[in-house]
Amino acid sequence: MATVLKETAQDANPWDVSRAELYTQDVWQEPFRQMREKSPIYFCPESKFGPYWSVTNYKAIQHIEALPKVFSSSWEYGGITVAGDGLDHLQEGDIPMPMFIAMDPPQHTAQRRTVAPAFGPTEVERMRADTVARTAAVLDSLPIGQPFDWVEKLSIELTTQMLAILFDFSWEERHKLTRWSDVLGDIESFDTLEKRQHRLATAFEMGASFKELWDRKAQNPGQHDLISVMLQSDAMKHMSHEEFMGNLILLIVGGNDTTRNSMTAFAYAMDKFPEERAKLEQNHSHELAVNAMHELIRWQTPLAHMRRTATEDTELFGHQIKKRDKLALWYISANRDESVFPNGDKVIVDRENARRHLSFGYGIHRCVGARVAELQLTTLISELQKRRLRVNVLEEPTRVPASFVHGYKSMMVELSQY
Ligand code: HEM
Repeated sequence: MATVLKETAQDANPWDVSRAELYTQDVWQEPFRQMREKSPIYFCPESKFGPYWSVTNYKAIQHIEALPKVFSSSWEYGGITVAGDGLDHLQEGDIPMPMFIAMDPPQHTAQRRTVAPAFGPTEVERMRADTVARTAAVLDSLPIGQPFDWVEKLSIELTTQMLAILFDFSWEERHKLTRWSDVLGDIESFDTLEKRQHRLATAFEMGASFKELWDRKAQNPGQHDLISVMLQSDAMKHMSHEEFMGNLILLIVGGNDTTRNSMTAFAYAMDKFPEERAKLEQNHSHELAVNAMHELIRWQTPLAHMRRTATEDTELFGHQIKKRDKLALWYISANRDESVFPNGDKVIVDRENARRHLSFGYGIHRCVGARVAELQLTTLISELQKRRLRVNVLEEPTRVPASFVHGYKSMMVELSQY
């Protein structure tokens, strides 16, 4: 792991952790450690995304997420990433697409309630057998002893299949979901008119495709896929086209990059921490696989931050926050808060409190798809164990250049059997 940031602008503030290059080069750990120690609530006066507060410890993030009236998620103020500027600052090529992750109560409550049952324990249990079968099929299709890209052949394939099933989307065209998710989840795509237009064109392409699916589902009621569930609900059936697209983007980006990156993180981390891999190779119990899954989601933190906007002047642990200030809640840092997770940069598959991680957020917006993600990752770990497969990483992965989606673009590996 590199420890010094290469090619940094001379005058860059080392504590401006919204800079994409910190993540591409995997050198974000040290600035966050310093902030947690010296200034866990830090005002960054200037950045590519304007001024913002960085909140970097566990306690303060929980505190903020428990006060959604004071710290809003609303798209009208800029939504859930440090990039958004809200309705007052719309630029050419921007069209707001409201989604319920970026709404406050009462709209948030009503829309979340509609989709939540599709991700509840009963539904997820119903998905188990199929998830095991698909994971087994993908693993059995991979070559042993030959190099291949784990991201493309395994992580993308498995998460895209799951999304296609959740939406009852065309199986043959499922790879479109990956492309749409990559473009729409990229917060670095706001900075030029050209990039905003490309983003918008992608959103419309996706919207048109889903509109067809929506119309088909409307004529064929009573099914259990996500579109049918939305169509049949009072809270969602009257959505505008923009709101419909917004919520689709939410479910696709929410379910895709995040789970994909935790699957890649698992393979990467097992190679990086061989003594932890040995524990999983020797002990095939379900309990250890589940704990390793929680630990990997903590360690990776597939969404590095969520953002909130202050709705009023307020005090936060001695800091004066002004109405409309942006606050970036850095889960990636809270998940390494020394007071909760000692030695947090290290993966410890049997870490006692791994499941206390904040990767799924906290409070009223806590990830609605968490159980589906957990099922997919645990299944992957168990199916690798059953086949006694070891993933050997051949070279450092290339990483996503962003401070929101924290993940991998590609990672060359070779499988062997132990
Ligand atoms: C490891 C995988 C995943 C991670 C790390 C993750 C992370 C998150 C985070 C951080 C939030 C916001 C929490 C907050 O503001 O407090 C969230 C919300 C959400 N996630 Fe996930 N997610 C994952 C998988 C999924 C999956 C598989 C789906 C669905 C297919 C999904 C759908 C959603 C939705 C719909 C919300 C909005 C919830 C709300 O606003 O009430 N996520 N997720």
